[in-house]
Amino acid sequence: MYYNDKLDKVINEIAEVAGYLWEKGWAERNGGNITVNITNEIDDTLRTKTPISDRIAIGEVLPNIKGMFFFCKGTNKRMRDLARHPLDNGSIIRICNDGAHYEIIADKPVKPTSELPAHLSMHNLMVERGTGYKAAIHTHPIDLVAMSHNPVFLEKDVLSKLLWSMIPETRAFCPKGIGIASYELPGSLTLAKSTIAQLNEYDVVMWEKHGVCAIGPDILEAFDQIDVLSKAAQIYLTARSMQFIPTGMSDEQLQELKEVFKL
Ligand code: 13P
Ligand code: ZN
Repeated sequence: MYYNDKLDKVINEIAEVAGYLWEKGWAERNGGNITVNITNEIDDTLRTKTPISDRIAIGEVLPNIKGMFFFCKGTNKRMRDLARHPLDNGSIIRICNDGAHYEIIADKPVKPTSELPAHLSMHNLMVERGTGYKAAIHTHPIDLVAMSHNPVFLEKDVLSKLLWSMIPETRAFCPKGIGIASYELPGSLTLAKSTIAQLNEYDVVMWEKHGVCAIGPDILEAFDQIDVLSKAAQIYLTARSMQFIPTGMSDEQLQELKEVFKL
């Protein structure tokens, strides 16, 4: 199924990132989810399409995204399948005018991800901020999730500082670091709320003992943030597996990066 060139480009980017998640080993079975605000890519054919579902409650009232359209990975769908057949494994939804329900408007009745409350809450915030951010991603990176099992790394900004100090690019390309949301039931409204609270300060949030989510202008940039952090985690873990604690860059070196990159 092809809708239009603009939407096709966004869907191809989503498929590209879904493939990366699978290749990285971050997307076992149906693990992880992607949503992108595609309101600007919707043409009249889609806008006037009759929904193929009833109105389904989101569980939250999200006034900023009323009437907007989103592409969402389907619940229980595999990233590796989303990569090859995005429209069979994803759903296009429209938020109803009450901001509390959505309808599926795609051709196939694919139910959106179980993490929809968190994703739509993130989109609601992105629209409120007016930064032009359009994408949200949640994935299960092995290294970062492993680190979330150590309470020391769950203290505010401990993990950000450690990861920044592993390689200069992390400081430069993930300038806000990573926020921490305490363990909550996957798909729950409480997980959505604690994620939103962290987004006041960060663009990437660790979901303790579960995964990581990130927001960005598009899905490639949201993915890049997690990829950069995961690289730093890999360096740390590789040094530890060689039986030494990595020195890390000094505070002065990190400060220099902050000034040069105007972070
Ligand atoms: P979905 O298949 O519903 O997207 O769930 C995957 C997941 O990672 C839940 O946290
Ligand atoms: Zn998950």
